[in-house]
Amino acid sequence: MAGLSSSSAWSTLLILSYVCIVQFFSADGRAVTWPCQLSSFVDGYADCDADHDGTWPPYDIVNVDWYGAIGDGLTDDTQAFINAWNEACSLDSAVLLIPYNKTYLVNHLELKGPCGGSLVVELAGILVAPADPSLWNKSHSNAWLHFSHLSGLSVEGGGTIDGQGQQWWDQSCKRNKKNKCHDAPTALRFSSVSNLKVRDLLSLNSPQIHIKFANCYGVEVVNLQVSAPEDSPNTDGIHVSETQNVIIQDSSIGTGDDCVSIVRGSADVRVQNITCGPGHGISIGSLGKSGSEDFVSVVVVNGANLTGTSNGVRIKTWQGGSGAAVGVIFENIQMNNVSHPIIINQKYCDSSSSCSANETSAVQVSQVYYKNIKGTSATKQAIQLECSELAPCKNLLFENVDLVREAGKGNSTTECENAHGFVMGRVFPPVDCMPLSQQAEKLLHTTM
Ligand SMILES: *[C@@H]1O[C@H](CO)[C@@H](O)[C@H](O)[C@H]1NC(C)=O
Ligand SMILES: *[C@@H]1O[C@H](CO)[C@@H](O)[C@H](O)[C@H]1NC(C)=O
Ligand SMILES: *[C@@H]1O[C@H](CO)[C@@H](O)[C@H](O)[C@H]1NC(C)=O
Ligand SMILES: *[C@@H]1O[C@H](CO)[C@@H](O)[C@H](O)[C@H]1NC(C)=O
Ligand SMILES: *[C@@H]1O[C@H](CO)[C@@H](O)[C@H](O)[C@H]1NC(C)=O
Ligand SMILES: *[C@@H]1O[C@H](CO)[C@@H](O)[C@H](O)[C@H]1NC(C)=O
Ligand SMILES: *[C@@H]1O[C@H](CO)[C@@H](O)[C@H](O)[C@H]1NC(C)=O
Repeated sequence: MAGLSSSSAWSTLLILSYVCIVQFFSADGRAVTWPCQLSSFVDGYADCDADHDGTWPPYDIVNVDWYGAIGDGLTDDTQAFINAWNEACSLDSAVLLIPYNKTYLVNHLELKGPCGGSLVVELAGILVAPADPSLWNKSHSNAWLHFSHLSGLSVEGGGTIDGQGQQWWDQSCKRNKKNKCHDAPTALRFSSVSNLKVRDLLSLNSPQIHIKFANCYGVEVVNLQVSAPEDSPNTDGIHVSETQNVIIQDSSIGTGDDCVSIVRGSADVRVQNITCGPGHGISIGSLGKSGSEDFVSVVVVNGANLTGTSNGVRIKTWQGGSGAAVGVIFENIQMNNVSHPIIINQKYCDSSSSCSANETSAVQVSQVYYKNIKGTSATKQAIQLECSELAPCKNLLFENVDLVREAGKGNSTTECENAHGFVMGRVFPPVDCMPLSQQAEKLLHTTM
């Protein structure tokens, strides 16, 4: 990855990734269309064979109610779900149906493959987690619903995942310094899953992160709603880690932490048409924590509307780490009263122990393109580029940016520290530390 810093490498990287995204989501029919209309499964008896296009095996339906689930919201249905999962997983291809208009109380579920074939989890009803943290098995407290080691999985159906996080939040050390710091469960976690779709779901009040992808490949997220209070600690909406080839679109996320966070080992991530707020905005990082070497490459956020978030589009890295965040495009973004609309922070610190020491290395940030970013900043400093003296930010490009102060309290400003790049078109507040460039325009036209 060390050679990626030249502009020709950037071009190659962007072109390659573009081709990659398009191929994955259109040439691969499996990723684009499932063989039948799953909305007809609501009653649990629809026959998917009938309108099957012949290229996929028929889907057997496995209804959790047939395995003893009660669905009254009070009875613990965990064992019925385990039995239904084991059956669905053993089949060539199956639909695991969680019926509409019922509420299932389930504890931690380890939904592990490999399975016989592709699986659809048709979540039409409501899943609720135990509200009391003491009811959780401590060795399973990193996730509530954990899907892993699967290929060809779709989780959809219009239903709700209610993490009932309130008591976890009350126990958080971020709420009260007297509390011990410990992790709370991610509501919906995918580990080592390829060819994954998550769509048409509502995720509420997760104890911690709402949806996490770790070590996945080929992920499509569509029409998701995520909601938790603004003061709920660490309740990121969608967290992407060591995952490649991702598209997140048509979704609305309001929580107490990042709207979307993209961290180490992730590449080819596209985010489009999303609404964020409240929360901490869209983040790349944090990267380089505890001296780690982290890479994130080719992230495109095109079409986002952020309201009342503490950050807009942010890249955050810790001192003392290494690696790179390279090839990032933020375009067509609306900011409404966002506290730090554009921010790069290479001295990120979210630790109770002090981070004041000057470290000797940093994660390299380069090839970041900000285009058509409009709206209002809640604070004076609308653009904050706090880059490291050890690894200054390189090849940043600002084109058509207009970020004024909310409520007309004078002009917004730019902070520029160790940041290098170019400006094109009108950019307000002015980024005076960088020259206007036609050269940059030429470069972009040949690369995009
Ligand atoms: C939902 O369940 C309730 C209570 O069991 C029932 O009265 C109602 O008719 C159901 N609604 C639908 C649309 O099935
Ligand atoms: C907690 O989970 C572990 C690992 O799966 C298991 O061995 C143990 O029996 C569980 N404890 C309880 C109290 O269920
Ligand atoms: C954008 O996403 C919203 C859902 O958040 C959806 O209603 C709307 O149709 C999407 N717009 C486009 C152009 O796809
Ligand atoms: C952005 O979101 C806010 C709050 O949800 C809404 O009022 C506004 O109309 C949206 N703007 C655009 C351009 O979609
Ligand atoms: C803008 O945000 C600030 C602080 O985040 C808040 O105090 C203020 O009420 C917001 N203004 C509007 C118009 O929403
Ligand atoms: C870290 O470096 C900055 C800038 O070079 C300097 O102002 C500051 O005093 C240093 N801090 C420590 C703790 O060495
Ligand atoms: C705001 O900035 C513009 C252009 O840089 C300048 O002409 C104007 O005087 C500034 N207004 C205030 C209130 O500082």
